[in-house]
Formats: sequence, structure tokens, C-alpha cells
Amino acid sequence: MLDEVYTAVATPNIALVKYWGKRNDELILPHNTSISITLDETFKTTTSVAFSGKLDRDIFFINGEEQNLDSHEVKERFKVVDEMRRMAGSAEHAVVYSVNSFPTAAGLASSASGISALVFATSKALGLDIGTSRLSIIARQGSGSACRSLMGGFVKWKKGEKDDGSDSYIEQIKGNGYWPDIVAFVAIVSEAKKKVSSRAGMKQTVETSKLYRERPNVAEEHAKELEKAIMEKDFPTLARITMEESNSMHAVMLDTFPPIIYLNDISKEIIHAVHELNSGGNIAAYTFDAGPNAVVVTTEKNKGDVYNALNSIGGIKDIVELKIGSGPRIADRQYEAEINAIIEKNR
Ligand code: PMV
Repeated sequence: MLDEVYTAVATPNIALVKYWGKRNDELILPHNTSISITLDETFKTTTSVAFSGKLDRDIFFINGEEQNLDSHEVKERFKVVDEMRRMAGSAEHAVVYSVNSFPTAAGLASSASGISALVFATSKALGLDIGTSRLSIIARQGSGSACRSLMGGFVKWKKGEKDDGSDSYIEQIKGNGYWPDIVAFVAIVSEAKKKVSSRAGMKQTVETSKLYRERPNVAEEHAKELEKAIMEKDFPTLARITMEESNSMHAVMLDTFPPIIYLNDISKEIIHAVHELNSGGNIAAYTFDAGPNAVVVTTEKNKGDVYNALNSIGGIKDIVELKIGSGPRIADRQYEAEINAIIEKNR
């Protein structure tokens, strides 16, 4: 008999109010609330999962290649599978077959789309009937920022107050249809894997940066202001907070000892170009995560000017236009033949 395959599709999110620093490393509880937009399926992860009594170990493929289960990235993913297996009372091993439609580990949050697709598909495969806030608590323990990809539109990850993390989950501020005018350009500056992982980097920041002492208060204030700007569809304020947040996070990174520097000269040119575009009022905002690639947020009306400004910067490898996306979905069973072949080979 063939084992049932469940498939989920999920997309990255980009934080406008950033998460950088944990108050609990094990449960992945953040020092501050963060707010993101989930992106559309231009970049996506498609993950198929099957649980099988025929296997004596878990097997994980990314982009057609079998992964080492001892590697850090794979471990963090299987943490969420283990947790859900426990919840479902299942002892069966899993085959996970995951395909990314974009460069992995290039600061484009493939871990966010990967982990949220995995959590979504696994919950269906195990027949777990749990809501999104509970799913986000599980996803958060794989990778913090990943939990925000479990909903579409504008998403808030609440920092929570409790030691057990039960109040640190996501909520949708507004869905993807709310502000259709918003456009996000991803400017790909480098496809190289980041040198300092965000996990190690943020830990060092919390431990060594004196500037960081103020960072959670700044971010919390920004989260409140941004939520209000979203509710009022006030783009200039959204743009200002987005840029201030990116700058604030990269400031505490630089204040880390030894310093963590993700931005390069092209990133800095993008920053200057956006401020030039904004000389008559904010029409665009840049934001950078743990890498040199930029996401530049603007609106339909101004996207031509923003694209042209980015396009005139030498060294940008690609500019991809995206909209706000609707969040993860269950898809038809995909990679069924591949998964069954893997089970047959390993039984
Ligand atoms: O990938 P994580 O969950 O370890 O954290 C990355 C955090 C940033 O992408 C740098 C900022 C954010 O809030 O997404």
C-alpha cells in the first residue's frame, strides 16, 4: 500500500519591524514584537510529507538532494516534526521532500517558507486539528521568523510575557487583500550563503551590544506605530518605520563585538537611492535582514520610478517584483512518485 502524501506551499515573509534577539533560546521567545508582510508565491517552498511504518529513520530532501540529519538546519526542522509527532501520538518516520523556487540561504528567508510549509503539511499528514496560533508556536521553535509565514497579509508575532511561551504567537493584522497597492521589490545583491547565521549572530548581539539594551523598547514602540499606520493605510509612516527598523537592527549588529556586518557597498547604494527618491516625501522604504539583499517596499503609483532607480545601481543581480501574499495552502499531492521511490529504496 502506498503511504499518503500531503503537500503544502508557503512563502517567505519580510519583517518591517524586526526580530533580533531572544529572551529564551530554547523556546525561541523574542525580546520584542515583530511585524511582517507575507510575500506572494513568486518565491515559494513546496513541501510534501508522508509518514510511513516502513521506515526506520527520517529522510529529508531539499531541492532533490538528501540532507544530513545532523546538520543544524535539518535539526531545527525536525524539531517541529518531532513536536507534532508527539502531539499526534505517532511513532512513524517521515519522508520530507521540499523544493524551493529561489536561492537558499541568501537572506531571502527560505527557512521561513520551508518551516511554515513543513509545519502546515505535517499537521495535515498527522491529522492534527490545531489552529494557526498553536501552529505558529510550533513553527517558532524551528526558526523564530518562520512563524510569521503561517498567515498571509500583515502579520504580528507577539513577544508574549509568559516563561512557557504560550502567549508568543502570531496574529493577522490585515489580510492580503486589504492594501493591494503595496509592491515589494527584492533586489538580489548576492546569492552567497551568509557568513554568520542569524541564530549565532543575535545571541552575540544580546550578549555584547550595549546599544541592544534599548533595542526592545525601540522595536516595541515601532510595532505600535506601524500597526496604526497599517490601519490608516498611511504609506509615508509605514515607510519611515520600516527604514528606521532596518537601520536600528543593523546598528545593533554593528555594535555587537566582534561586529556583524551584513550590508555591503551595493546595499548602502540602495539605501542612498531610496532616500533620494524620498526627498519630496516617503514613496519607498528599504529593509535588509541577515544579508546584503534589499527588499524595497513601495506602491503601484511609484513602482516605475523605484524600479528605475534600483535598475541604475550597478551590481544588483536581479530585481523581482512581488505583492503581498495570502499565506500557506495545502496543494495537491506533489512529489508522490519521488516519495514512494524513497520509501521503497529505504524500507
Ligand atoms: O531566521 P531567524 O528566525 O533566526 O531570524 C532572522 C531574523 C531577521 O530575518 C534578521 C529579522 C526578521 O524579523 O525576520
